[in-house]
Amino acid sequence: ISLENFNTFGIEVFARYFIEINHPNELIELFMDPQWFNMERLILGGGSNMLFRKDFDGLVIRMNIRGIDHRINRDEVFVAAGAGEVWNDLVNYCVKHEYAGLENLSLIPGSVGASPIQNIGAYGVELKDVFFSCNAFEIASGKFKTFMKEDCNFDYRDSVFKNDMKGQYIIVSVKFRLSLVPDLKLHYGAIKEELEKRHITEPTIKDVSEVVSHIRVSKLPDPSTIGNAGSFFKNPVIDKDEFQAIQSFFPDVVNYPAGNGQVKLAAGWLIEQCGWKGIIVGRTGTWKNQALVLVNHGDASGEEVYTLSSQIIDSVYTKFGVKLEREVNIIG
Ligand code: FAD
Ligand code: EPU
Repeated sequence: ISLENFNTFGIEVFARYFIEINHPNELIELFMDPQWFNMERLILGGGSNMLFRKDFDGLVIRMNIRGIDHRINRDEVFVAAGAGEVWNDLVNYCVKHEYAGLENLSLIPGSVGASPIQNIGAYGVELKDVFFSCNAFEIASGKFKTFMKEDCNFDYRDSVFKNDMKGQYIIVSVKFRLSLVPDLKLHYGAIKEELEKRHITEPTIKDVSEVVSHIRVSKLPDPSTIGNAGSFFKNPVIDKDEFQAIQSFFPDVVNYPAGNGQVKLAAGWLIEQCGWKGIIVGRTGTWKNQALVLVNHGDASGEEVYTLSSQIIDSVYTKFGVKLEREVNIIG
């Protein structure tokens, strides 16, 4: 089966086997069969954070478990959603019901089930700020297990599911702890500016969601027309000493405090300074409004995109001595 419509880069690759999971119990049945248990596998949500370098010679398990449920307890609301729900549909559902907490994460592509994997984040909020627990299928034992927030080791674009537990669990649902009393996070510069422009002084949950969506559309390419997977690299976090050395040569270096005496650099700025912004290399390139986003201008292979990403890593390393890490999951 072709995976072209199952990855937002729009890379044409083929999977040997493909199955869609609509109910958690289907996972138990699937893995009772030794053929599937022993086969190489890939868990797929919306395919918006992956780059396929070649065909996948194994079983792709596409998570399609639906359902959104809520329980109100005083001024808190616990919302549980199936892994296969579209992330932004969940955000819209919560915005509509005035459940506060997800509004800054509006318009992030992908599924609910993938949201804990890299602790998705945007505009001053990370998943960990609203995550309560998730339910996951343990492949080795065939049992379901609940992970509470403290079990997940959430960090910037990181969680236990990318490290110690990598490949061992399939998330089937996620529960969020939201609030009926909004505590809006408006500290991000771009949000403030856009609210001012709209003369909104007392924003609602819906205002914040709309403003964030507006900012995102202006900066990021729409995967339905231009293949991409959002930020291709993480923003590098470095020690203060290293930062000061860089700053002495490049006084304009864009940076943010990252806690523990560390500093986060804007990878997009580093890439732009190396002359890569908006550049077209064959059928791939970087986005004209955001150098951190690699794009497929049509019919690019995963290998071409990957090669460009390696060139960018080398070039940033040569100029700044900083090693960029890929944020996108490389398959193959
Ligand atoms: P996939 O790409 O299908 O999978 C990603 C990884 O999670 C893979 O390793 C996969 O095996 C694993 N996985 C998926 N589902 C499950 C499951 N149920 N159980 C276990 N493992 C699973 N990310 C941000 O954090 N912030 C942003 O602002 C942001 N902006 C983006 C903008 C654009 C235009 C695009 C294209 C992407 C952006 N992303 C952003 C990245 C992406 O939206 C997130 O990483 C999202 O969580 C991926 O969801 P998905 O369902 O598409 O995951
Ligand atoms: N910048 C440049 N040139 C560029 C791009 C950025 O100079 O081409 C500088 C600018 O100074 C800008 C700063 O970098 O102000 C930050 O850029 P932006 O606000 O676009 O955010 P980002 O750091 O590039 C991160 C996330 C995004 C998330 C936004 C908003 C990472 C790797 N990326 O991008 O997440 O939406 O912040 O919070 O942390 C994703 O993960 O796919 C993603 C899109």
